[in-house]
This record gives sequence, structure tokens and C-alpha cells, in this order.
Amino acid sequence: MSFDLSVFSNKNIILAVTGGIAAYKSAILVRRLKDYGFNVRVVMTKGAQAFITPLTFQALSGNSVHTELLDPEAEAGMGHIELARWADLILVAPASCDTIAKFAAGLADDLLSTLYLATKAPVWVAPAMNQQMWAAKATQRNLNTLVEDGVHVIMPEAGSQACGDVGLGRMPEPEDLADQVKNYFHQAQRAIAEKFGLLAGKRVVITAGPTREAIDPVRYISNHSTGKMGFAIAAACYSAGAKVTLLAGPVSLDTPNGVRRINVSSAIKMLDESMHQLEEGCDIFIATAAVADYRVAEVSEHKIKKAGDELNVSLVKNPDIVATIAQQEKRPFMVGFAAETRNVEEYAAGKLVAKKLDMIACNDVSRADIGFASDQNAMTVFFAEQYQMQKRDLEKASKQEIAQQLVEAIHDALHHEIETV
Ligand SMILES: Cc1cc2nc3c(=O)[nH]c(=O)nc-3n(C[C@H](O)[C@H](O)[C@H](O)COP(=O)(O)O)c2cc1C
Repeated sequence: MSFDLSVFSNKNIILAVTGGIAAYKSAILVRRLKDYGFNVRVVMTKGAQAFITPLTFQALSGNSVHTELLDPEAEAGMGHIELARWADLILVAPASCDTIAKFAAGLADDLLSTLYLATKAPVWVAPAMNQQMWAAKATQRNLNTLVEDGVHVIMPEAGSQACGDVGLGRMPEPEDLADQVKNYFHQAQRAIAEKFGLLAGKRVVITAGPTREAIDPVRYISNHSTGKMGFAIAAACYSAGAKVTLLAGPVSLDTPNGVRRINVSSAIKMLDESMHQLEEGCDIFIATAAVADYRVAEVSEHKIKKAGDELNVSLVKNPDIVATIAQQEKRPFMVGFAAETRNVEEYAAGKLVAKKLDMIACNDVSRADIGFASDQNAMTVFFAEQYQMQKRDLEKASKQEIAQQLVEAIHDALHHEIETV
């Protein structure tokens, strides 16, 4: 089982908007939640509609807005019970004093208060009001009741208010609220992945990107690797429940959520850090980095000046990171990568044996539509003899999908080995 933590297209949020001046912020909140991939349905109280129109929310959420309880037509569409069941989370933002009081009292005289009683989904309220209304004993008493009833109260912020007062009562910014929702689902999914994911409990180290081999303080030798494949694999391993450390060469990519990233530059540094990670504990080592085979024999201390028609730079062989790790006594499950331009499968199968790997994924970088800078890839995976799985073709797909298939291949190989031991 594996979970893609970057999309929430299977999660349903009801955003309930009540009659407060902060209702205008809720329009942006819908946008942010949609950006994160959530399905959003908006419920509005009568009070809310005095501040902002349902049409705005209909356009932003892509769904009709729910406003009525005692309306046969609305009930014939998605009735209040159905709506209550549909929700994975009900977020009331802004939550007025009035609605908070209704929730606390258990009233059910409009759609929102009825939904509140009818749902099993977690309910979050983001109170927003004048600072005196916030401080009022009745409001605080009602909020305490909600907390006791299991509602999550998002504290308002202090600052200047629309009414001119200064104090507690401002609704947090919509971006902040959307992030809180996203993090909540991330954590919930992560908890499941850590228990049931394909790589649950495994410690994975991944190398990614190119290395840079200095010539002098301003110049270097490198290659076209972008690191995209390694970063996608890191994200897929994390989603599968693993603890992931990413040893990244110089690339301009964001660190995948939940992944520990360590930046390295040269092949020597990448090897040093890989050995260090091995000491810290590593079950699976995935070497996607395009490590420079050679480095400059003597790096010039100062910038080399232009002189003469030729410049000779002498190169020496770099250590082979993946082969070095595979030779260690306490070696992890080793996954290598081979980017070739010809005889791809032959070279890859040779590398698998020569470097004593468990698995090797190879691709043909001479193809313009896959590999290096492309967002797509296609691969053939070879397994070492003891796994009795020989090879598996991964058809052309996005690097995210290929990464997912690789995780499955690693899991299958590990599982197979356990079975045959
Ligand atoms: C201009 C204006 C601004 C208001 N702002 C707020 C507010 O920020 N928070 C609040 O709790 N009530 C505010 N109210 C009062 C609510 O709109 C009122 O209590 C209403 O009954 C709330 O109904 P509802 O909870 O069903 O949406 C405001 C009223 C007016 C006229």
C-alpha cells in the first residue's frame, strides 16, 4: 500500500461560512484548498450571504453552494445527511459568535447547525469577531463546551480589527488555515503509511543529481542530470512509509515533503556522506546520482588565467559510490541506475553483476522523450539472481509514476527474498 501525500483529490472538505466581516477571506481559502487538490463544498448561513454572495463560492469551488435546510429542491440534490456523510472535515471559517453559541446549545434550526449535529467528521472552527465579543463570558463558555465536545478551535489572532478595535479576534490568514488542513491530512496519511506502507519502517538513502568536480575556484566539470528522478523516488519512498535521506548534488529542486535533504557537491563528498549514512543505519540505498567518473587531479588554488591556445587538465578516476557501498560488510539492499546511450540492457545487466547490486534500473538517455531533463521516463529493471524475478519493464510514464513502480519493485524483491530464505 502506498500513499501520494501531494494530492488530496480523495478528501472532501465542507467550508462553512458564517456572518462575519472575515467572510471575504474565505474566498481565498477556497482557492488554496482547491490548489491543494481537495474537493470543496461551501455551506453558507443567511448571515454570511449578507457579506459575500454564494455565486463567488460557487465559481471558486466548482460546486453549487448549500444555503437552505428546509428547501425540498435543495434536499432533493444533496440533502443535509448526505452532505454530513460526504465531509472528511468541516471547517467553519469564519465562525461567528452566533454559530458557536448554536453549536454549544445543540440547536438545529438552519443547515449548518443541523450538519454539525449530523456529521461524524472532525469539525474545526475559526472564530473571528470583535475583541470584546471574543472576550465575552458567554463566548468563552460556549467555546469551552465545543472543545469538550471534541471540536478543534483555531485560535484567532491579535491585531487591528475592521471595527477599529485592537485585540484578539482576527481570523488567521486563509493561506495559514489551508496549510493547517493540508498538514492534518498529511499527518493522518503518514501515520497510515508508517504502519501499512510498502516500505514501512525502512530507512532509505537516495543519491540524486549531478556532482561537480572543481577545476579551480570558479570552474567545474559536471553533467546534465537534473535530479528529478531521484527526488521523485524520495517522495515515493516517503509516501510508502520509509524514513528518507536524500543526498542531493547541485540541483534547483524543492525538497520533497518529509524528506531529509543533505546537499553535497563532489563525488568524494557524496561518498563520504553515503558512508556516514550507512553508519547511521540504512536498509535500502538507491543510487540515482549521475556521479562524475573523473575529477581533476590537482584543483588549482587560484583561477586559471587564459594563456596559450590549449589547456590540458589531467583527470583521475573518482571512487565508484554504489560499488563501494555494496562491498561493505553490513550492506543495505542496493539499487543502482544506469543511463546509457547504446546497448542499454546489456551494459545494465553487466553492472548489476560487476557491482554486486540487488537491483538496477536502466534507461536509454539517447531517447529525447525520456531521461535527464524530461518529466517522463521509461525503464527496465533487472534483479540479482537470488530474487528469481529477472526483469521488469516500466512503461513510459511520469517520473512520479515510475518512482511508484520502482518502490513496488523494491518491495517485491525484498518480500520475495524473505519468502525464499
Ligand atoms: C457589519 C457586521 C459585521 C459583523 N461581524 C461579525 C463578526 O466578525 N463576528 C461575529 O461573530 N459576528 C459578526 N456580526 C454579527 C453576525 O453577523 C450576527 O450575529 C449574525 O446573526 C450571525 O449569523 P450566523 O452565525 O448564522 O452567520 C456582524 C454584524 C454586522 C452587521
